[in-house]
Amino acid sequence: MGYFCKKIYCGKGMNMSDLTVMKAIYERRSVRQFQDAPVSRDCVLDALRAASWAPSGLNNQPWRFAIIQDAPYKEALSALTRYSTTIKSAALLVVVFLDREASYDRTKDCQAIGACVQNLLLSLHSMDLGAVWIGEILKNSGRVVETLKLPERLELMAVVAVGHPAHRNQKSHRRPIEELIVLEK
Ligand SMILES: Cc1cc2nc3c(=O)[nH]c(=O)nc-3n(C[C@H](O)[C@H](O)[C@H](O)COP(=O)(O)O)c2cc1C
Repeated sequence: MGYFCKKIYCGKGMNMSDLTVMKAIYERRSVRQFQDAPVSRDCVLDALRAASWAPSGLNNQPWRFAIIQDAPYKEALSALTRYSTTIKSAALLVVVFLDREASYDRTKDCQAIGACVQNLLLSLHSMDLGAVWIGEILKNSGRVVETLKLPERLELMAVVAVGHPAHRNQKSHRRPIEELIVLEK
C-alpha cells in the first residue's frame, strides 16, 4: 500500500486520511463481465446513499434511481443497447434519471448527476463490487422510460450495470497530466 501510494498518487500534499478515496479513484475500472451471483440490497442502498451525497446546484438533488433485478426487465433493456451481454450478465442495473420537475438548470443538473454516478461507481468499487456506466443506451432514452413504465418527467441519464466482477484484469490509461493543463500562471 505504501509503495503503491507513493508510486501512483505522487501525493506530496497528502496525509493518510486522503488515501482511501485516492485508492478507490485509481483502482476503480469499468467492469463489463460479472459472476452469476446476487448483490445484496443493503450494498446497493449504501452505494445509492453515497451517490446521493454528491454535490448539486442549490442542493436540488435532481437524481432519481431505479433498481432493476428482474430478468424480463433486464432482457427488455438489453435489447436497447449494444452492451446487451453486459446488461444481461449484471446482477442488477441502477438506472439513473434526471427528474425534470426537480431541475433548475439543465447543464448544472447533468453535471450533478455525473458527480452522483461517479460516487456510485466509487462506492460500489469500495465494496468489492464491479460496475460500468452505460451511456450508449441513451440513444433509446424514451424507450427505457416506457419499458420501465415510469413517468415522462424522468429523463434517462445513465444505466449502471452492477455485479461481482468475473475477473479483475481490466486495464485503462489516462493522458499525462501535463497534456491536460492548458494554463498555469
Ligand atoms: C458518460 C459515459 C458513458 C459511457 N458509456 C459506456 C457504454 O455505453 N459502454 C461501456 O462499456 N462503457 C461506457 N463507459 C465507460 C468508459 O468506456 C470507461 O469509463 C473508459 O473507457 C475508461 O475506463 P475505466 O472506467 O476502466 O477507467 C462510459 C463512461 C462514461 C463516463
